[in-house]
Amino acid sequence: MDDRIRAVKEKALEQIERAQSLGELEAVRVRYLGRKGEIPLLLKTIGTLPPEERPSFGAEVNSLRERVEQALERKRQELERQVIEARVTEEKVDTSLPGQYFEPGALHPLTRALRDIIGIFYGMGFTVYESRETETDEMNFVKLNIAPGHPARDMQETFYLTESTLLRTHTSPGQVRGMLSMAGELPVRFVVPGRVYRRDPTDASHHPVFHQVEGLAVDTDVSFCDLRGVVMSFAKRFFGEETRIRLRPSYFPFTEPSCEVDVSCVLCKGKGCSVCGNSGWLEVAGAGMVHPNVIRNGGYDPERVTGFAFGFGLDRLAMLKYGIDDIRLFYSNDKRFLSQFRGF
Ligand code: PHE
Repeated sequence: MDDRIRAVKEKALEQIERAQSLGELEAVRVRYLGRKGEIPLLLKTIGTLPPEERPSFGAEVNSLRERVEQALERKRQELERQVIEARVTEEKVDTSLPGQYFEPGALHPLTRALRDIIGIFYGMGFTVYESRETETDEMNFVKLNIAPGHPARDMQETFYLTESTLLRTHTSPGQVRGMLSMAGELPVRFVVPGRVYRRDPTDASHHPVFHQVEGLAVDTDVSFCDLRGVVMSFAKRFFGEETRIRLRPSYFPFTEPSCEVDVSCVLCKGKGCSVCGNSGWLEVAGAGMVHPNVIRNGGYDPERVTGFAFGFGLDRLAMLKYGIDDIRLFYSNDKRFLSQFRGF
């Protein structure tokens, strides 16, 4: 073998063996196989040799090139394996450690019930109007026929922020605000869900914060039959097809005529039990035909349109549906209670 070829071969193979990284190995490759590398240079000297030596010299350089390429490839694989092994040791996972457990969350039962309710009303052509929790005395009372000094105020004592602003005692002011937002367009058909506040003593069925779902429909031809039909359809879908409703005469200053809505007891199916006080019926809403003054306050002409309204107690609906016997559970953030609604 030509001495120069042998020298290049020994140097090249030694440097390949010594390379510590893929970067170093690449530098060695360029040094020997690159365009101006030592092996191409060797080949260029072929012209200086006597013609009879050229074929064997050429063959030797070519086998040197192959040898070096093989050595480079072997080293490259070795270095890559080292990189991977280093990472594997460095990033080692201790599989004997306990895993991280992420507790699945759950919707609050009131949220869950509200979503069901809104879905049912969507199906009957109602949209959602979100009103406000801080209200003016004017909207919460006066626009609903409850003037200062009206006895109906006694039943809805609340928290005043100023002389004339308060935390709303019901979602009914949403009727007026919602109508005004429609700017006279027909039909009006929306529900107003949300928190309401009353200065009530707290017990298993009363809490100073609770929720209502108001409903309002106004059009040229809305009757008490429509109210009954909508409320009945809702009750059957929410509590089950076997549910019956009963409307009892009542009084609200902002509806005339007015009624209370009862549903047949979801527990005893109307036979009478402790939940329904042996009556077989449960009160779930107040309702009625919207008073002409309220229609007018909403920017509509009571000579031309009529409407019905209802106000469900959301907490009551959720308690009955899920068998919850104390309203305070909704507001105490007790995980033992809330986690029971997982996967519901
Ligand atoms: N706002 C009434 C209440 O809180 C309920 C109601 C709503 C009654 C709509 C009639 C019409 O008691």
